[in-house]
Amino acid sequence: MYTQALNSRDDAPAAIRPAEELEHEARFQARVDAEERIEANDWMPAAYRKTLVRQISQHAHSEIIGMLPEGNWITRAPSLRRKAALLAKVQDECGHGLYLYAAAETLGVSREELTDQLLTGKAKYSSIFNYPTMSWADIGAIGWLVDGAAIMNQIPLCRCSYGPYARAMIRVCKEESFHQRQGYEIMLTLCRGSEEQKAMAQDALNRWWWPCLMMFGPPDAASQHSDQSTKWKIKRFSNDELRQKFVDATVPQAQFLGLTLPDPELRFVPDEGGDGTTGHWHYGQIDWDEFKQVIAGNGPCNRDRLAARNKAHAEGEWVREAAMAHAAKRQARQQAA
Ligand SMILES: [Fe+2]
Ligand SMILES: [Fe+2]
Repeated sequence: MYTQALNSRDDAPAAIRPAEELEHEARFQARVDAEERIEANDWMPAAYRKTLVRQISQHAHSEIIGMLPEGNWITRAPSLRRKAALLAKVQDECGHGLYLYAAAETLGVSREELTDQLLTGKAKYSSIFNYPTMSWADIGAIGWLVDGAAIMNQIPLCRCSYGPYARAMIRVCKEESFHQRQGYEIMLTLCRGSEEQKAMAQDALNRWWWPCLMMFGPPDAASQHSDQSTKWKIKRFSNDELRQKFVDATVPQAQFLGLTLPDPELRFVPDEGGDGTTGHWHYGQIDWDEFKQVIAGNGPCNRDRLAARNKAHAEGEWVREAAMAHAAKRQARQQAA
C-alpha cells in the first residue's frame, strides 16, 4: 500500500470523524472549488489519493502497453520516413508512461509496486490495446482515432485539480497532437492511393471505430467513479460527453477521407435548443458486452500483451541493475570529491 502523509478516514460516517478532519476536508474542497492546484505535500482525503493513484497508474500502464501494437509495425513500416515517425511516436508513448509513473509516485506509491501490479495482471490499462494490428493501415487508424480519443480525454485533464498530473498532461497533449496527425496523414495517403490501399484504410476503420468509442468508458448511467471525481475536479466532462465530442470531431474527418464509419445509425441531429451549438452526430448502440469481456482479460490480445510486457521486463533486468550500479558509483565518487 502507499503511505499517507496524513491519515484521513473518509470512509467513516461524518458523525464519528474528528472535527479537525472535517475541517481539513472542507478546506480541501474549498481550494478545489477555487481552482487551486493540490500539490503532493498538501492535505488530501485518502479517497482522493487512492482515486488518483488508480487513475494515473492505469493511464501510465496504458501508455506502456500501448507501445506494443504499434511497435509490431516499426520493422515493417513502408518507408524510412514512416519508420522514423512511428519510432518517434512509440518512443513518446514510453515517455508519457514515465511522466505518469513519476506523477503517481508523488502520491506515495512506488514504481516497483505499480510495475508489479501491471505485470501480474492486477492493474488495468486501456482496453483498446488488446486489439491486434493486422495491417499498415491500422497504424494510421490508431494515430487518427486512438490518439484522437486520447486527446479528447486528456485535454480536460490539463486542468485536473492535482498539480503533478495536470502538468504531466500538458506536455503529453502536445505530443499526442503530433501522433494524431501522423495517423491521419497515413490514412489520407492510403485513401488517395490505389483501390486496394483505400480498402485497407476502410477495413482498419471498420475494426477500430467501435473499440475507440469504448475508450471513453462505460455510459454515464453505469459509471462508478464519475460523481466524486467531478466534485474533486479530476474529471471535467462525463464519459458520454467526451464520447460525443469525439464523434462530432471525427465524422467530418472520415468524410474528408472518403471513408464510411461502420455505423448504419449514424446521422446528424441539428441543434434545436437554439443555444448556438451546431448539433450532434447520433451514433448507434455500443457493444458493452464486448467491452466487459476485454476488460475482464478476454480480448483478442490480453494474454499476448501481458506476456510481451513480462518478457521485456525480465530481459531488461540487467539494464536496471547496470543503471543502479552506475548511479551508486557516481554518488560514491561525488561524496569522495
Ligand atoms: Fe501517449
Ligand atoms: Fe499518443
